[in-house]
Amino acid sequence: MKIYVVDDDNSIRASLKEVLQDEDFDVEDFATGKNMLKALSRERPALILLDVWMGKEDGLDILGKVKEEYPALPVVMISGHGTIEQAVQATKKGAVDFIEKPLSLDHVLQRINEILKIEPAVRDQRKRPDIKLEFDEIIGESTQVQAVKRAIAQAAGTNARVFIYGENGSGKELVARAIYNNSRRVGFPFVEVNCAAIPEELIESELFGHEKGSFTGAQEKRIGKFEMAHQGTLFLDEICDMSMATQARVLRALQEQRFTRVGGSENIEVDVRIIAATNIDPEKAIAQGRFREDLYYRLNVIPIHLPALRERTSDVPLLLDHFLRSAARENGIPIKRFSQGAMEMLQMYAWPGNVRELKNVVERLSIMSQDEEITVDTVTEHLRPPNRGQEQTPIGDLKKARDDFERTYIIQALKQHDKNITRAAKFLGMDRTNLHRKLKSLEIDPDTL
Ligand SMILES: Nc1ncnc2c1ncn2[C@@H]1O[C@H](COP(=O)(O)OP(=O)(O)OP(=O)(O)O)[C@@H](O)[C@H]1O
Ligand SMILES: [Mg+2]
Repeated sequence: MKIYVVDDDNSIRASLKEVLQDEDFDVEDFATGKNMLKALSRERPALILLDVWMGKEDGLDILGKVKEEYPALPVVMISGHGTIEQAVQATKKGAVDFIEKPLSLDHVLQRINEILKIEPAVRDQRKRPDIKLEFDEIIGESTQVQAVKRAIAQAAGTNARVFIYGENGSGKELVARAIYNNSRRVGFPFVEVNCAAIPEELIESELFGHEKGSFTGAQEKRIGKFEMAHQGTLFLDEICDMSMATQARVLRALQEQRFTRVGGSENIEVDVRIIAATNIDPEKAIAQGRFREDLYYRLNVIPIHLPALRERTSDVPLLLDHFLRSAARENGIPIKRFSQGAMEMLQMYAWPGNVRELKNVVERLSIMSQDEEITVDTVTEHLRPPNRGQEQTPIGDLKKARDDFERTYIIQALKQHDKNITRAAKFLGMDRTNLHRKLKSLEIDPDTL
């Protein structure tokens, strides 16, 4: 199994090489990232040890380049004067770990063994199965969605942990299932745990199971989700909502690759692939002290960020079309279509609830619209009014809903046209004077946007 060592310091290269060769690794060392990248175009090592600071070169840039080409290839950063910012940067760019100098060679070896153990498919590329990927259900052609699909394809072939981050309704669960469906674990269970929905006092038992009589109410022995997922995939959803104590226990289970049931003493070992997800920015959660950084490092081997729908509006028409069809099929009604104006309006909308909101809106409109063509008026009537949170438009408050909608619509048009009234007016199909009047009545001041 081949390992690349990249460091400008000769003595560090020599000592890493020696200790790794003693462990029967095949080692190739490089004094520059540039040479390593060249070699990487010819062959693929099992792992790369990469110095953060190498004279003229920035190790983080090199890391970025490696990850661009081979997202699933594990890279361990080593650093002389590591700062937490650097470590965070490295993780963001996809490093699997960050080890500080002076290096404890034992620690380096231990980490390498752990990493290669969790990624057997990466360890031996020849064993990688030919997986035919089925992404039909993930709609979208934007560059962001294409990147997500590529990451799914990379992740599916390995056992590496995946960390999915994205707003509500952006498709995190869909992605987790796609990875599983396209992996070799597909014949085994996919077990989901919504960490936010389980009361604090029950979560440990939920995850790890319990022995009979271990606490009041534990009348029978119970198998936890980790055990249920044996040989399959465990999806830890809303991971940042887990208490710090539970996070510590999960971390320990991941580190030691075994755990005990609540109230039990038997060590249980399972073979589980973990996919974690959150709709909270993990780095913010770490800064706020509600998410363990060490757990994040463990989980974030392959990061997948799901962009909000408003950041990829080019996907909106495809999604609308997809959900018009499925709404028709599921409700036994004809396939409706959107008028040009309605389409534009939906493309302008900010979609705070992302794809889930779009799906619900399309279904509602398909059912409510009397005509085959859904008009601007129908859309205005049924779209969730902006700035109002989750609540529905109360009947009879149509004027307010329309004003709210118009306001958001016009503000977005202005922003898209650099607050240029003439161009925004042209885009909106109004003349300048009318737009000025409208701005006044809706109390929009372009200068404050
Ligand atoms: N790219 C997409 N193509 C087709 N359907 C999608 C896409 N993204 C999301 N969906 C659909 O939108 C709905 C919400 O997706 P999902 O449950 O995966 O989101 P989530 O990120 O897990 O949301 P939450 O944070 O609320 O749990 C689902 O019905 C899903 O099938
Ligand atoms: Mg979800």
